[in-house]
Amino acid sequence: MDGKPQKLSLKREVGLMGAVSLIGGTMIGSGIFMSPQTVISTIGSSGASLVVWACCGVLVIMVSFCYAELGTVIKESGGEYVYILRTSGPVVAFMLVFSSVLFVRPAGVAGISLSFAQYVVAPFYSECPPPVLVVKCVAAAAIIVLAVVNCLNVRFSMSVQVFFMVAKVVALGVIIIGGVVMLIRGHSVSFEDAFENTNVGINPIGIAFYQGLWSYDGWNNLNYVTEELKRPEVNLPRALVIAISLVTGLYLLVNVSYLAVMTPQELMTSNAVAVTWGNKVLGSWGWIMSVAAALSAFGSLNGTFFSGGRVCFVAAREGHMPDILSMAHVHRLTPSPALIFTTIVSLIVLIPGDFQSIVNFFSFTAWIFYAITLSGLIYLKIKKPELPRPYSVPIILPILVLIAAVFLVLAPIIDDPQIEYLYVTLFILSGAAIYVPFIHYKLCPGLLSKVTVFLQLFLEVAPAEKSL
Ligand code: ARG
Repeated sequence: MDGKPQKLSLKREVGLMGAVSLIGGTMIGSGIFMSPQTVISTIGSSGASLVVWACCGVLVIMVSFCYAELGTVIKESGGEYVYILRTSGPVVAFMLVFSSVLFVRPAGVAGISLSFAQYVVAPFYSECPPPVLVVKCVAAAAIIVLAVVNCLNVRFSMSVQVFFMVAKVVALGVIIIGGVVMLIRGHSVSFEDAFENTNVGINPIGIAFYQGLWSYDGWNNLNYVTEELKRPEVNLPRALVIAISLVTGLYLLVNVSYLAVMTPQELMTSNAVAVTWGNKVLGSWGWIMSVAAALSAFGSLNGTFFSGGRVCFVAAREGHMPDILSMAHVHRLTPSPALIFTTIVSLIVLIPGDFQSIVNFFSFTAWIFYAITLSGLIYLKIKKPELPRPYSVPIILPILVLIAAVFLVLAPIIDDPQIEYLYVTLFILSGAAIYVPFIHYKLCPGLLSKVTVFLQLFLEVAPAEKSL
């Protein structure tokens, strides 16, 4: 890069506050405005749905303690990818990057954008569910707008993030206060016989957790950028505990509020819970909730785009990614190739996908990799006890979470096998088939470098180096 110091050098700039908002801001997004109705309709009762939301929070706190140890023992950025690379080896790590770039991240983007679209159109269709085509077009427009914003300017996308973070915490606060007022006025029918009609089957429990855990997803975001965190051995565990307990508390109270305002039946049949809630509590001001929920999803979408580039950098550094995906625009320093790629795949996922199934497949795949990461932690604790551990958890913790993760992954398959889960599994495994010829034996590098040079000139991008 003609000798100028134009490298993307990442410094330790993230403090505790930044870390907490990095985690909390990604976690709070679409889920809390979309999943409550699916959780309660799959699990059947208000009491059990609250238990599911609480258990998701506890599970996420437990797994995040394990990640705090991993993040302080393996100090590199890159989250699961780096932990799997250092414990299970390059083939499994490649399978993770492969599925995350081609499926998990685009699915996340598509899911959140659908939630955004649902809330944008909800006020215009108060009597009936909005047409699917309209929802999908709005979702696609949101993805394209954000991709362009993120390609043009990093700083602008950061300010977008802070603004939306405030909007969503205010929205959740309003919902909670409204719920408390309703409870004080004696609206508590939903909590009588709270466990009646509970579905105790393995499949409903698994699916309810997938939906709940989607709302909590993003808890691992800080582990992607540990190299940029100040005093990670102190701030990583602290930020995880603060952010996740805060979000768990908010989610539980918001669910209580939904149930104080609506009966479980009303909740199950609502198209967009926050809108139904708003119409009942705020009357003619109900549309405000729909704006808030849309903003929340939009912010989360922006964050998902923003953090996605990091894994590509780390994986390209290891030679696990075509170099082009880790390059940045020569002047704007934004990772445009990775952004454009994610946008295209997200739009493809959007065509057949609906929110519920996208979320289920997202959680299924994500928890396979969380399980592999946890087994890596158990391996390190048994085989490498001598490694310096500024922060350490008792080994029983990763074992318990691993059991829960295996249950989560197997439950829907065993109880109600659907061919789609097989496809997802085969897709992940196909990563290994690609690894051997293309990464290990480096077949057809000539073609790849020609394509890379062409795209480099076309997109005006150049390799961006990370300083460690
Ligand atoms: N928890 C977020 C939501 O409720 C979804 C997060 C998707 N995952 C991610 N790593 N960005 O919308």
